[in-house]
Amino acid sequence: MSPSLGDAERLVAHSPQVRLDPMTEAEFRAYRERGIARRAGIRVAQGVWKEAEALAASRAEYDRELPNGRATPHQHLVVARDAASGARVGEAWYSLETRGGRAQFWVEWLTVDPEHRRRGYGSALVRALAEEARRAGADRLGLFVRTANEEAVALYDRLGFTTVGRIVSLAVPP
Ligand SMILES: CC(C)(COP(=O)(O)OP(=O)(O)OC[C@H]1O[C@@H](n2cnc3c(N)ncnc32)[C@H](O)[C@@H]1OP(=O)(O)O)[C@@H](O)C(=O)NCCC(=O)NCCS
Repeated sequence: MSPSLGDAERLVAHSPQVRLDPMTEAEFRAYRERGIARRAGIRVAQGVWKEAEALAASRAEYDRELPNGRATPHQHLVVARDAASGARVGEAWYSLETRGGRAQFWVEWLTVDPEHRRRGYGSALVRALAEEARRAGADRLGLFVRTANEEAVALYDRLGFTTVGRIVSLAVPP
């Protein structure tokens, strides 16, 4: 039998490459507004927040998490661009901080713009983030993903992420 490439190797062999550029202030403001609306929508869908208060609650969380905007220490907001053409294909927010003597690399959010999906950019974006992690001395990259987010779960499974925990909740009887 001739040797065949595994899924991960095939992905690497044929995927495009992305570079990560820090967001400009205008890009950050647009990203922040989209993120606030997205988080509000997710929390309402999860039944965690009331619709009428969700936007304000989401804005308050963003204010807390990014008090100095894109200059907030340890927070990195980047636009992903196709390395060959320079065209924007997505964006990401990650944090990088040394705690407990080790560099912790946490992906807060990543997106491939809808028109660029299923062309390998999501995989390329994760690889670019992993390269940032490696350069910073981190030996892993972590993130939360909702089980309902099937495309993201499929992407991370495909790239070899392992599940290290579960968020559980118990309905309290009325
Ligand atoms: C998840 C996301 C980043 C994937 O980006 P992408 O550019 O489409 O990813 P890739 O093209 O590299 O896909 C790699 C593999 O992931 C899996 N995958 C990606 N999207 C999928 C989908 N909609 N359905 C099933 N599998 C999917 C497939 O195995 C795919 O390989 P294939 O195209 O050869 O079948 C993109 O769908 C996205 O931005 N979603 C909205 C934002 C989001 O949910 N971010 C994650 C937050 S945790």
